[in-house]
Amino acid sequence: MSEDAAARLQDIAERVRLCQECGLYQGTTNAVPGSGSATADIVFIGEGPGFHEDRLGLPFVGRSGDYLEYLLGLIDVHRDDVFIANVVKHRPPDNRDPRADEIFACKHWLDEQLDVIRPAVIATLGRFSMARYFPDARISRIHGKPRFGGSPVTAWYPLFHPAAALRNPGLRRDMEADIRRLPDLVAEVRQRRAQQQAADETPTQLSLF
Ligand code: URA
Repeated sequence: MSEDAAARLQDIAERVRLCQECGLYQGTTNAVPGSGSATADIVFIGEGPGFHEDRLGLPFVGRSGDYLEYLLGLIDVHRDDVFIANVVKHRPPDNRDPRADEIFACKHWLDEQLDVIRPAVIATLGRFSMARYFPDARISRIHGKPRFGGSPVTAWYPLFHPAAALRNPGLRRDMEADIRRLPDLVAEVRQRRAQQQAADETPTQLSLF
């Protein structure tokens, strides 16, 4: 099953590398499909590749990536244990914000990846990925507050972007506290999934008068 999932992620990545569905691929060195485990409990979604990510074809390998790895270390998790992706798969020129039409064009790739991985927790990093699940929300209000839904049950978990915490050290305490909650959140989703499965398997009682 996991080999199959890994092969499916690989297939998606190969198709992402050929993608010209918006103009962002122009002038880039590499697409950045995402990387990590096909059976990850946690998927992190950032904004878009920057200079270093474009060079290597891997997400979060610059300063933000170093900080994300430090954060994961706080909960004894390595980046290979999770899956890391972005809302757009090619680097926006000069690191500008991705536009709504580019995010829309790219959306189906992330949908396909999430459909393969089916993580317990989808952790959004910053406002662009947060907007996928929490439209019109303010990150300063909702960071660290999970919402549960879907089938199988999933926790959508909004976090600050690592670059924001690097720019503004005042955010780091909150960012680190939010990260430390992840293991409990994964455990909670597992429990809810088990309850959901048990309820689905319980035959409904037929009343025989
Ligand atoms: N910032 C992001 O949002 N994504 C990356 O891959 C790197 C930096």
